Amino acid sequence: MTRTIPISRRSALAGGLAAAGALAAPALTRALGGSEEGRPLPVLPELAMERDGDLVRAALDVASREIDIAGRPVELMTYAGGFPGPVIRLRRADTLELTFANRLDEPTNLHTHGLAVSPEGEGDNPFRYVGAGETVHYRFALGDDPRNTGLFWYHPHLQGNQAEQLFRGLAGPIVVDGPEDIADSLGPHEERVIVLKDLRLGEDGVRLHGAADWINGLEGELALLNGMVRPVLEARERRLRLRLINASNARYWRLTTEPARDLHIVALDGHVLAAPWRTSEVSLAPAERIDLVVDLEPGEPLWLVDRPVPRRTSFGRRAQKVLRILPPRGGTARPDPLPARRDTPWSGPAGREIAEERPVVFSLFYINGQGCYGRPGDAAMFTPRLGSYEIWEVSNVDSMDHPFHLHTWPFFALSRNGRPVPGTPLRDTVNLAPGERMRIGVAFDGNPGRSVFHCHIVEHAEKGMMAILEVTA
Ligand code: C2O
Ligand code: CU
Repeated sequence: MTRTIPISRRSALAGGLAAAGALAAPALTRALGGSEEGRPLPVLPELAMERDGDLVRAALDVASREIDIAGRPVELMTYAGGFPGPVIRLRRADTLELTFANRLDEPTNLHTHGLAVSPEGEGDNPFRYVGAGETVHYRFALGDDPRNTGLFWYHPHLQGNQAEQLFRGLAGPIVVDGPEDIADSLGPHEERVIVLKDLRLGEDGVRLHGAADWINGLEGELALLNGMVRPVLEARERRLRLRLINASNARYWRLTTEPARDLHIVALDGHVLAAPWRTSEVSLAPAERIDLVVDLEPGEPLWLVDRPVPRRTSFGRRAQKVLRILPPRGGTARPDPLPARRDTPWSGPAGREIAEERPVVFSLFYINGQGCYGRPGDAAMFTPRLGSYEIWEVSNVDSMDHPFHLHTWPFFALSRNGRPVPGTPLRDTVNLAPGERMRIGVAFDGNPGRSVFHCHIVEHAEKGMMAILEVTA
């Protein structure tokens, strides 16, 4: 009846922490002491809300707080006292009114990454400044838009503070339920939302940026799933839907199972795919989301293993086991095959008239040769017309990877290096390896106003890899 988790302390050392080289020996011992191995993967709480029809009211606080990380107390920044923050769970016709209290001693703000909502005023406004101690209101109207069904996330977006605040823990999931979600066609299954996030600890808690981290992006030696090192997911169903969010500043996650299993990607950046993609490995650049279906075999536990990504900061990293998955005990039936195809609820790029084609060239720390620091008065690089459809050719001429992210207007991934992307999925973040180029189709359908696009290695965004666009009627 008891299940033992066969990990020796030594394998934990070899797997992850030893690669860090950052922790002094006593800190390392402490990080490993009181090991969390074998503790259940936490189910993140949902933010408490008051619902009145489609109007939903909630309060969200930002504050510093001591959180138990790998058995030691670490001062982090938290939403609603949690790390990661609570799940904001909505329906696609909802309007969320949020009372947002900044109890930090520095300014911040709030970004709802991936939602197609207004970027103006009290909406998803990246130029907003919420001073230390201030309480303000946010209002996010999802507008019954099918593109807002899915998995998104929230994090701070204030230039000058966002890289440190994200690294210190400010991130949480947004889940929007809607009729276009795939849940109904999966049969009996268990859904788990998992925030992937790394941390780097020193003697005094979180160890923030050194000079090189502003170039490479800050990464940490601890690989956390919902705030925990190497937890256990004891499944209740044979079919798991893992809803993964990469909330790391700069860490790329590359996940496989041991033993190897078919993995089915059913949604990217929260948006359901027309057909599931079968694979044995998934990669998540910073800010990307993947909904993954994994079917378990009775009596066959799995490891989820994170492998190093060939990126210049990752060469010292080794593969490490990050999650133990135990199949359900009782005999539950074999899951049915996944549906081969479904209609996506939004219309695709086919037949849309192209209003403009624009190059977007990423180099360190510029977009199209310009640095931008997101000040409210800065000039817009692009001024698309509301309702128009544009092709952007995004290219990376640099020697390191850069994940491209556009706010407010999700886009179709059309091609990568000249080859069509199967199914032209709807995205909000796509990674570009050195030398790569992608064509994306951006539909400026709704939500006029000023917003930004940028590299989602947040250090790069802070150093200028960001640009403003203004969409007007
Ligand atoms: Cu997730 Cu502009 O950010
Ligand atoms: Cu970058």
